[in-house]
Amino acid sequence: MTLAIERIQQAYKRLVSSLSMHMRIFLHPALVVMVFLPTLMICLGNFSPAHGEDTPDDAELLRQAQFRFDPIPHEPPSYPENRLTERKIALGKMLFFDPRMSSSQVVSCNTCHNLGLGGVDLNETSLGHRWQSSSRNAPTVLNSVFNIAQFWDGRARDLAEQAGGPLLGLVEMASSNLHVCKVLSSIPAYVKAFDEAFPNQAEPICFGNAKMALEAFEITLLTPDAPFDRFLRGDLKALDNTTKKGLHLFINKGCADCHMSTNIGGNGYYVFGVKNKPDPRYLPPDDHGCRTISPTIEEDYVFKAPSLRNVGITAPYFHSGSAWTLAEAVKVMTRTQLGIDLDKQEIGAIVAFLQALSGRQPEIAYPVLPASTALTPHPEK
Ligand code: HEC
Ligand code: HEC
Repeated sequence: MTLAIERIQQAYKRLVSSLSMHMRIFLHPALVVMVFLPTLMICLGNFSPAHGEDTPDDAELLRQAQFRFDPIPHEPPSYPENRLTERKIALGKMLFFDPRMSSSQVVSCNTCHNLGLGGVDLNETSLGHRWQSSSRNAPTVLNSVFNIAQFWDGRARDLAEQAGGPLLGLVEMASSNLHVCKVLSSIPAYVKAFDEAFPNQAEPICFGNAKMALEAFEITLLTPDAPFDRFLRGDLKALDNTTKKGLHLFINKGCADCHMSTNIGGNGYYVFGVKNKPDPRYLPPDDHGCRTISPTIEEDYVFKAPSLRNVGITAPYFHSGSAWTLAEAVKVMTRTQLGIDLDKQEIGAIVAFLQALSGRQPEIAYPVLPASTALTPHPEK
């Protein structure tokens, strides 16, 4: 113990004496003229307003970006828990678009995750069964396979578990395990499609496998080749200078500490209001986030740092859907999560970077769904 303290004290003395030696060298008049002044001038030049917070050169910026982010792949990732086959994916696609799984037979997954609109419904909070309002904004289903867990509070481990939520949710589709099975079993083309997608199973139809098929389809919903992806793959001209400045600020100011990896987010849960409490407009006080579902999370208002992929086309923002422009969302983030204020130009540059995260949208041909039969239950009012 005493030995350790002595060592620390000795090390400290060495540090102080070496520092003062450096100071002596530094203050020698000849050195001031020869080294210090030119260095000072170079530094001033670098930090002059003309250069601002200098963006590093392209190669260095690329290195920093590659260290934190990955491009969206062109092919779906391999997924051992739910092996992808053409048949399973095709069935999942039909189910995604089939409103008959809801009790009203009007609401489908695509109602709130419209694949022609970036996988969202463009509403502050979603409208579901009988025009009921859900309490949260619908996140996109695009690239959702890269999220560490699903929902704003992470309450579903994966996409298959997630799919059960809206099907049974009273606000969303107000359906039931029984209703889904009755509808699907009443339609011979679905019975055949389940047999083929889940071969060698005693009871291939319905609820558990419907969720697996939906997951398989969702895994294929990727948006590769955003300008930022092309940059990450080495095309240095894929981003203009403003966007590069935005990328630099995004990394340098700390946004990338929470929004990172393939989805530029979607892999961590944080308090909304790390540095400053947000306006209740953005953070309605009665939605407590993760704390509600997990007794081990003691902090209030913990939410997923969402993926920022395609964020340019998925307004409005936040779990409350309360910010309608990216500039507003970025301003809220700088104040609440980082405790800083950025000027208009800097905000603009970050917004330009976020716009460069919009990738090629999946080309979806609307599936023709098999006709109902006399056995198919009628819609419930
Ligand atoms: C009435 C609108 C509505 C319908 C219908 C709906 N969803 Fe959602 N979805 C939402 C909302 C709202 C959330 C966020 C809820 C939350 O986090 O508590 C969500 C979350 C999700 C997520 C999580 C994404 C993420 O980043 O966390 C996925 C995946 C998803 N839905 C897929 C589906 C599928 C598959 C269906 C059809 C079986 C479906 N949804 C039907 C509104 C809807
Ligand atoms: C400490 C972690 C953290 C930091 C740092 C952070 N964010 Fe966030 N971000 C979050 C969380 C958590 C949310 C979700 C808030 C909510 O709605 O509950 C979010 C939401 C967002 C959204 C809304 C996305 C959507 O689809 O609704 C944008 C845009 C965003 N952040 C951009 C940024 C930018 C730009 C920066 C840097 C200036 C930044 N974030 C810094 C954690 C963080």
